[in-house]
Amino acid sequence: MKLIEVKDYQEMSQVAADYLLSKVKTSGNLTLGLATGGTPKGLYEALIEDHEQNGTSYRHVSSFNLDEYIGLPRQHPNSYYQYMNENLFRHIDIDSENTHIPSGDAADAEKESNAYDEKIRSHGGIDIQVLGIGSNGHIGFNEPGTSFDSSTHVVELAQSTREANARYFDSINEVPTHAITMGIASIMKSREILLLVSGEAKQEALKKLVEGSISESFPASILNNHDHVTVIADEEAFALV
Ligand code: GLP
Repeated sequence: MKLIEVKDYQEMSQVAADYLLSKVKTSGNLTLGLATGGTPKGLYEALIEDHEQNGTSYRHVSSFNLDEYIGLPRQHPNSYYQYMNENLFRHIDIDSENTHIPSGDAADAEKESNAYDEKIRSHGGIDIQVLGIGSNGHIGFNEPGTSFDSSTHVVELAQSTREANARYFDSINEVPTHAITMGIASIMKSREILLLVSGEAKQEALKKLVEGSISESFPASILNNHDHVTVIADEEAFALV
């Protein structure tokens, strides 16, 4: 695991954007795995700024998002579908046919989950997966205790995750109780992983991750078994390492 320490959130976002841009500019076709949450917002802003200033094109880029809430219609302001449109897709020239997000309003969520892994596989897999981390070590919505062998599946969200995400909703009662998430095995199949970590709330999580002991009680710990992981974390997140 390669660790890069940067000063703050802004530098983390810019270093991550420069890294992705170097791939976007030099790859024939590129498949990105994308994350939501507060952490990658600055990265997406930097990509948009570059697109506006330098015209970097995404016509050859496809994407697969990690997860989606179950029970929110696509047009709901807090669906990850809307998040991606608002924070990235509508500002760049990526073809909407090439962007994939699990469908949280599918009639059969289990079927949707199985189909999602197959879609990624038949597409040729993910080149670079962008990840954030929950303070309890979750990646995607894989909460502590999730099997390392899991493929895309339906999850019940931990209370702490619903509380952490309640800031985007009017009240915690509105935060969905379930989600579809790429599984740990699905994430580990990505050829490369870029993990972004910022702020005090993630200090314990980063410490546990770099300590290196691997356990399903701390999902992100499996990243120690992947041979191409880059962690970009800011000084605040690094404080306990
Ligand atoms: C959310 C998302 C994850 C994200 C994590 C951290 O619940 N499902 O993909 O990485 O929690 O979120 P944040 O970046 O807002 O701290």
